[in-house]
Amino acid sequence: MKNKEIQERIEYLRKLLNDANYEYYVLDHPTLTDQEFDKYLRELEVLENNHPEFDSPLSPTKKVGGEVIDRFRKVRHKIPMLSLPDVFSVEEIEEFDTRIVKENVDPTYVCEYKIDGLSVSLHYEKGALVFAATRGDGVVGEDITHNVRTIKSVPFTLKKPIDIEVRGEIYMPKKVLLELNEKRAKENLPLLQNVRNAAAGSIRQLDSRVAAERKLDTWIYHLPNPEDYGIETHAEALQFMKDLGFKVNEKANRVVTGIQEIEEYVQETTEKRKDLPYEIDGIVIKVNRLDSQKKLGFTSKYPKWAVAYKFPAEEVLTKLTDIVFTVGRTGRITPNAVLEPVIVMGSTVKRATLHNEDYVLSKSLKIGDIVSIRKAGDVIPEVVEAKFDRRTGNEKEFTMITNCPICGSVLEKKKDQVDHYCMNSLCPARKVESLIHFCSRKAMNIDGLGDEIVEDFFNLGFVKSIPDIYFLKEHREDLIELEGYGNKSVDNLLTAILDSKLNSMERLLFGLGIEGIGDKTALLLSKLFKNVDAMLNATYEDFKNIRDIGPTLAQNLYDYFHDVDHIALIEELKNIGVNMTYLGEPEKNHDLISGRRFVLTGTLSFTDRDSLSTLLESYGGLTSSSVSKKTDVVIVGDSPGSKYEKALELHIEIWDEEKVKSIVDGL
Ligand code: IVH
Repeated sequence: MKNKEIQERIEYLRKLLNDANYEYYVLDHPTLTDQEFDKYLRELEVLENNHPEFDSPLSPTKKVGGEVIDRFRKVRHKIPMLSLPDVFSVEEIEEFDTRIVKENVDPTYVCEYKIDGLSVSLHYEKGALVFAATRGDGVVGEDITHNVRTIKSVPFTLKKPIDIEVRGEIYMPKKVLLELNEKRAKENLPLLQNVRNAAAGSIRQLDSRVAAERKLDTWIYHLPNPEDYGIETHAEALQFMKDLGFKVNEKANRVVTGIQEIEEYVQETTEKRKDLPYEIDGIVIKVNRLDSQKKLGFTSKYPKWAVAYKFPAEEVLTKLTDIVFTVGRTGRITPNAVLEPVIVMGSTVKRATLHNEDYVLSKSLKIGDIVSIRKAGDVIPEVVEAKFDRRTGNEKEFTMITNCPICGSVLEKKKDQVDHYCMNSLCPARKVESLIHFCSRKAMNIDGLGDEIVEDFFNLGFVKSIPDIYFLKEHREDLIELEGYGNKSVDNLLTAILDSKLNSMERLLFGLGIEGIGDKTALLLSKLFKNVDAMLNATYEDFKNIRDIGPTLAQNLYDYFHDVDHIALIEELKNIGVNMTYLGEPEKNHDLISGRRFVLTGTLSFTDRDSLSTLLESYGGLTSSSVSKKTDVVIVGDSPGSKYEKALELHIEIWDEEKVKSIVDGL
């Protein structure tokens, strides 16, 4: 090949491989197979090695690292890299919105994830990456080009040959930290505490091979010079950067107007957060119009047109004394943290779910660790992290069990899933859990058959299967003899069981515990099919054609209704007289209850939380466990918790015991 042809081939391969990197790492849509990519990369390496005269820092061969610098050069930012003022509550976001409205500018915002990493400034000339810098103190940062070059989602060349600076976040995906810590543990190296430190540590390496191995990634979210490109809004700037080839978080970014839409975003993001493959520590809210941003200006430290809402995290330290395993009704095995009791946001926490083996490993937990605990979404406690620096060396390694802790059968892990399952349908733990579920409030709602009682009845042999519940009446005399029972309570229980036969179909459908079918889906299906027989006769296609039912759920439903044991169970329940049809919407209505959101705190003398919730829901009320601006009424019983204070703070209507009793009595 002539030199010119070689040069052309090199350029062709560079473009091909840079495009492939973009399609794989930015668009998440690979166009070359790994084998093809490797083949072309090797060809390019050989050509470049033989022809150093054509070397280029922008060659995809440079993504693997290898460049070593002797020190970090300082760089001055032409436009300072500011940080954002933090806010910690929805109320503070509201204050921000009020300030913006007062300034008479357009109160339209872009909400974005606040990525937990380190900020970076990327500079391009004629569309080619020239250098990258850290934020530093905001005025002077450090040149980290050699490491940034190894980040696959950072384009070497842009789709247009323009001069531009963009800013964003370099982060380490959660999975990468997990793998890294697993490796470090094997090599007896100290573990990295969190993704931010791990990412920053990788970027602070003189040898770029380290950064290359760390699989860092980017989200780009800021264009410091939008006016140079005739851009009028931040949303347009994001689109512009995306079109140039940067990785912009389109799925997460949202243009919103008004505090309600911001709140919805906050709520949704708070729920989604734990399922994201990367860490976010809050939400950034930015005024969308750039002329409005300009009008609002800056303080000495911050822009006045944006705030960073930080997720609340009251974290408390305690000791992880053990990890025990429970078996759910589907056979799913859950590891649970046993904790030295500790008070978090006003209540004692002794246990926390650890979800599955991967979750425990991702946090590198060991038994005996000092861990930080926080309450996710106000109610469910979660283990945030182990304090590695508090380890004494006496901690015990966590190992996943291989057999069911109750029946001993070998556990199975389904393909591509993280959970282990006990597959023995006769496993007593699974049976008890399915019975508890069948009787529970959102299912058949049998008053008097709470979790512990069902377990007791199971152990006593009174209730071994769902139909047995309806034959409990045959044990009336035995039940009366039990401690804590008498004629009246047994008769009440038997009446509740009898009444449950009249429930509308959705309760039964949910109570059957079909994998993936929650109460809402059960209601949707009941409205569509009207009776259980129609579901027994439905085809896989019939299920799949329903909106909101994906292929997995459709398969679960089809399998369930074609399983001989399930068909027999339904037949038996039918013979017992359990209603199999959908009875329609509740007709009950009450002005003070319908469509309003209720939260209960403390105890009421005349009823319990579940019964009251059921009652309110039957009159069209909604119940929830935490107080927010959306709450309409907080019902305050004896010894109320912090929800009472929050209700006062938010000026939410409060019903005391007397008031709620008078309303309930009048229903
Ligand atoms: S905007 C002038 N957007 O949070 C506006 N920052 O204290 C510059 N961050 O230093 C920042 N995600 O490192 C912006 N979507 C996002 C962000 C974000 C994370 C970081 C960034 C900044 C800090 C704000």
